[in-house]
Amino acid sequence: MDRLYIFDTTLRDGEQVPGCQLNTVEKIQVAKALETLGVDVIEAGFPISSPGDFNSVVEISKAVTWPVICALTRGVQKDIDIAAEALQYAKRKRIHTGIGTSDYHIRYKFNSNQDDILERAIACVKYAKKYVEDVEFYAEDAGRTDNVYLAKVVEAVIKAGATVVNIPDTTGYCLPNEYGEKIKFLMENVKGVHNAILATHCHNDLGMATANTISGVMNGARQVEVTINGIGERAGNTSLEEIAMILKCHKGLNVETQINTQKIYSTSRLVSSLMNMPVQPNKAIVGRNAFAHSSGIHQDGVLKNRESYEIMDPKDVGIDENAILLTARSGRAALRHRLSVLGIEVDNGKLDKIYENFLKLADKKKDINDDDVRILAGAERSEQSRIKLDYLQVTSGIGVKSVASICLNIAGEKFEAAASGNGPVDAAIKALKQIIRRTMTLHEFTIQAISRGSDDVGKVHMQVEYDDKLYYGFGANTDIVAASVEAYIDAINKFVK
Ligand code: KIV
Ligand code: ZN
Repeated sequence: MDRLYIFDTTLRDGEQVPGCQLNTVEKIQVAKALETLGVDVIEAGFPISSPGDFNSVVEISKAVTWPVICALTRGVQKDIDIAAEALQYAKRKRIHTGIGTSDYHIRYKFNSNQDDILERAIACVKYAKKYVEDVEFYAEDAGRTDNVYLAKVVEAVIKAGATVVNIPDTTGYCLPNEYGEKIKFLMENVKGVHNAILATHCHNDLGMATANTISGVMNGARQVEVTINGIGERAGNTSLEEIAMILKCHKGLNVETQINTQKIYSTSRLVSSLMNMPVQPNKAIVGRNAFAHSSGIHQDGVLKNRESYEIMDPKDVGIDENAILLTARSGRAALRHRLSVLGIEVDNGKLDKIYENFLKLADKKKDINDDDVRILAGAERSEQSRIKLDYLQVTSGIGVKSVASICLNIAGEKFEAAASGNGPVDAAIKALKQIIRRTMTLHEFTIQAISRGSDDVGKVHMQVEYDDKLYYGFGANTDIVAASVEAYIDAINKFVK
């Protein structure tokens, strides 16, 4: 079997999703989970883009041992200087540099011509080589680049020292056969192609990212660029879990990875909860319904023999239906153990705080599952916030007007208000707006139950517009009106400093 390298860009392309930005501590947590999952390369950020990104690359380089740490640059010297500086502590490092090669990019973005772009491509690889041995070149918008010109660029950058050449379908435009043929064309027409690895980097604008990636692999690509849960700008990137499980299910493709598939589910949940980005219920591999059989015929078949309707065992992706749930009788040690299984390490002080909230939740809810534990571990963030919900009382029902009274603690001072509205959430938000007198508009509002049961925790995601910018908020509570108000306050805390 041929080795296929997994290049994870959750912390770079994935993190470009508006509202999903992580702080450095959270990025380190994700990077360590990716290391445990077995990815080969972690693209840790775009260091010149912000001091936060620079710092994250530095800290991830220190925290992670085995995977190669990669930093993105444009094909300009200043970017490459900064990336090299950010990578100084990485045990194994790579600079990912490049330039747009399609006519759209050459004409409209660079106001240039093919010869000039070719020279700039060679120059940026040579410049990056001064700092690191491992240089990856990306031909941005390769999906819409003429194959003959693309081959010329790929050949030249390999000659200049590129160890990996990335062929991004930046706009998610290619059909699977077209993308596969592009890789095949390069494999057959680029002199020296075997001195480097060709990489796929597919976007999902037309829902074909995974199909295109597999087509690339079938035609010779040996690195795939992916994200957890397929997150990424617009419709996202190819999802890591889909590629890993396709290769596990289809041994005939004759390529293997080092992914420990049993870590897929916990990594997916960690990324989803840290980024406040819900996973769609029917998402392949990691969605809540991915292994749920509801039709009687399917249930009967699965009970008789799992393989009659399932091509994968949920345990292979780390879903253990018999996992021990925590209850009000569970102690600190059990909670610490569960946190560590989920990749969350805490000191004694933080454990005490989480345990206190755990007992409060266990009082309302019989069994505490992994999602609850993750939410409890993140709840500390709201405790440090400037605006906190002190109390909320709501009257609602059929035939009565919904009324809410609310008290907010703003930097230690208490403010109360009451309002009526079209339903309990509307009443509570109107009362909240009497205290926070800003012009804010609620755009997105989703409520999701985590598991099953009427005592379940409801997760609320909200998108609030203020001053022409969007802010995301998240709340979780067994009371969905309280969860909604918490989500609204979480969004407000991002712009009220
Ligand atoms: O989609 C793309 O082209 C990219 C490059 C910067 C690698 O993300
Ligand atoms: Zn991309």
